Amino acid sequence: MHVNCDNSSMTSRYKIAPSILSADFSCLGAEVKSVIDAGADWIHFDVMDNHYVPNLTFGPMICQALKPHAKTAAGVAVPIDVHLMISPVDALAASFAEAGADLISFHPDASAHVHRSIQAIKSKGVKAGLVFNPAEPLDVLEWTIDEIDLILIMSVNPGFGGQSFIDSALRKVELARQWIERSGRDIRLEVDGGIKADNIRRVADAGADTFVAGSAIFGKPDYKAVIDQMRVALS
Ligand code: DX5
Ligand code: ZN
Repeated sequence: MHVNCDNSSMTSRYKIAPSILSADFSCLGAEVKSVIDAGADWIHFDVMDNHYVPNLTFGPMICQALKPHAKTAAGVAVPIDVHLMISPVDALAASFAEAGADLISFHPDASAHVHRSIQAIKSKGVKAGLVFNPAEPLDVLEWTIDEIDLILIMSVNPGFGGQSFIDSALRKVELARQWIERSGRDIRLEVDGGIKADNIRRVADAGADTFVAGSAIFGKPDYKAVIDQMRVALS
């Protein structure tokens, strides 16, 4: 499975990943289509289990149902970026791989065996990512950086959309960028929580290349206007 399709300019290294957590759940397929028409590069899919986080969202069946909608008007597939906020990880990660996820990320503190969980994802031909909460150190990268395709830095505590950006995440993004540079590997550096057109540039300057935004996009009537503003800020 490839994740190199790009709904923006083919030359842009930045990707915008709208989180459908803030979409209208009564018409999720149409929302996915609209946000892709508006320029989304990835669809960010927040999975919450009322155990690892207090909230409860959607499972693999919804991912499978949305998969046919995750493509541009020209028919180019748009990757589904699954963010697991669940514990345990492995069994549902496998189900999401079968449901059409292109990338699956999990929180290392939610898995008893982080390396095994990464392998469980990769064995399905899906890209694997690790997610770091605001108070979580990056230490586990020492032993996993050679295995992963994505690092996701949380700039809010996981569980809800519409929270304020936590500034200390910027320092963690800088540290994660150093890890990636040292590894010499092609690893995406994504940031999730409180991202808007007016702070996305700071997040990019800290070293991020992929930006999750839920309420900033789905909370406005014109998704394209917001995504365009974000791209202008990034340009
Ligand atoms: C929070 C989720 C985020 C959320 C971001 O646990 O992981 O992806 O949708 O929402 P905003 O962009 O509104 O902070
Ligand atoms: Zn998320």
